[in-house]
Amino acid sequence: MAMVCLSDFEAYAKKYLPKIAWDFFAAGADDCSTRDENILAYKRIHFRPHVLRDVSMMDIRTKLLGTEISFPVGIAPTGFHQLAWPDGEKSTARAAKAMNTCYIASTYSTCTLEEISAAAPGGLQWFQLYIHRNRAVSQHLVQQAEALGFQGLVLTADLPYTGKRRDDVRNGFCLPPHMKLKNLEGAFEVCKMNHLDPSVTWNDIYWLQSLTNLPIIIKGILTKEDAELAVRHGVQGIIVSNHGGRQLDGVPATIDALVEVVEAVQGRTEVYLDGGIRKGSDVLKALALGAKCVFIGRPALWGLAYKGEEGLQDVLRILQDEFRLSMALAGCASVSEIGRHLVQFSKL
Ligand code: FNR
Repeated sequence: MAMVCLSDFEAYAKKYLPKIAWDFFAAGADDCSTRDENILAYKRIHFRPHVLRDVSMMDIRTKLLGTEISFPVGIAPTGFHQLAWPDGEKSTARAAKAMNTCYIASTYSTCTLEEISAAAPGGLQWFQLYIHRNRAVSQHLVQQAEALGFQGLVLTADLPYTGKRRDDVRNGFCLPPHMKLKNLEGAFEVCKMNHLDPSVTWNDIYWLQSLTNLPIIIKGILTKEDAELAVRHGVQGIIVSNHGGRQLDGVPATIDALVEVVEAVQGRTEVYLDGGIRKGSDVLKALALGAKCVFIGRPALWGLAYKGEEGLQDVLRILQDEFRLSMALAGCASVSEIGRHLVQFSKL
């Protein structure tokens, strides 16, 4: 099967993954309006390309908090990678390193942080944290991540409780007995998912800052008010995210929310985006609207389901090629030339 675009990997994953795993990866909350809107919203944005620019030499590199990556697409944190491929997050880490980009490893990984870090020594890895009711568990994970060489701490802020994903409820979704949430083993009953602390507030950013010297990136911001609070609490980065439409259904597409967040932040922290990135031109639109980098969630899982590390590299390579081509066709030879002038919102 020739894999030409990310939808080809999606079709493969849908065909070959066990239904319960496919449904878990695909799920959005309620009737999936936000999940679907994340993708549709890109169709309402059009390019304003500039022609007759010299695009014979292309530079698609960028920097994440000072560290260079080969192109502005990283891997968003998603849980349970062994549902997609036996080596799980170790394969993800290897693919990200091979493509010289950033991998955000989830608290809900099915490999330990040690295994993830050892799989890709020297690779750029951030650790994504869900704050546990038992704060000692979270403190240990943060400090372990820092000691292992993870270079950023991503606090996911949009999951005080898990959103209602209908297919997971219907399927009675639960990890198969041979898979474990290796970083939380013994800490809670996996299927109940009642271990997260819904009392977390902005003050807990100060608590995290007291535990670690890692830069803190807050994930799940959708409004200018929260962007301002994030900046005031001294975070180094913001990921505009609606959790792939898996949490509060009815929030806007991330590409639409990006605009107000970027305006509020005024360059005081880096702003990234995830949600609905399926083509290189989506990446270009997000950068034009002010994102420094984007992250992919489900497409990474489809790549893993296809061929593990190799499949994920294929996904990243296709996005990279499409991004380079879109940039060139829009008249930009380097990422620094991408700006707001490149896009317009259609009236539809
Ligand atoms: C997620 N996401 C997520 N986010 C997070 O902070 N920690 C996690 O463990 C998970 N787990 C997770 C599992 C699955 C199966 C999905 C689809 C998503 C959200 C993820 O980081 C990201 O916000 C979205 O996936 C981005 O949207 P796309 O790229 O999937 O459209």
